[in-house]
Amino acid sequence: MPEVKVAKVSEIPPGTKKSIKASKTRVLITNVDGKFYATQSVCSHLNNPLFTGRLQGNTIWCDMHWAAFNVTNGEVVKLPDGYSTDKIPPLKTYPLRVEGDDIVVEVPE
Ligand code: FES
Repeated sequence: MPEVKVAKVSEIPPGTKKSIKASKTRVLITNVDGKFYATQSVCSHLNNPLFTGRLQGNTIWCDMHWAAFNVTNGEVVKLPDGYSTDKIPPLKTYPLRVEGDDIVVEVPE
């Protein structure tokens, strides 16, 4: 899997997020209390971009139907409002590490 420098640590302060194209994959980088996580950038319900959602602690809320996901492991925290689906997939997560001031993500080819 390619390793891609996606951002500088200083570009994503605690409590914020950034959607970035890494190789051929768009990822959402979140900073939860100084620790960084990488997930798929769109909601696993109907592919709404998660960048426009709200990050609260380790939870990202999709602003389309208010599903919520734990960005540290991709797990579904809350199902979408108004849908009878009893299950949606977790978010894909990607290995991430910090090298100096660089955030490096491993993404599929
Ligand atoms: S698209 Fe995200 S909750 Fe429906």
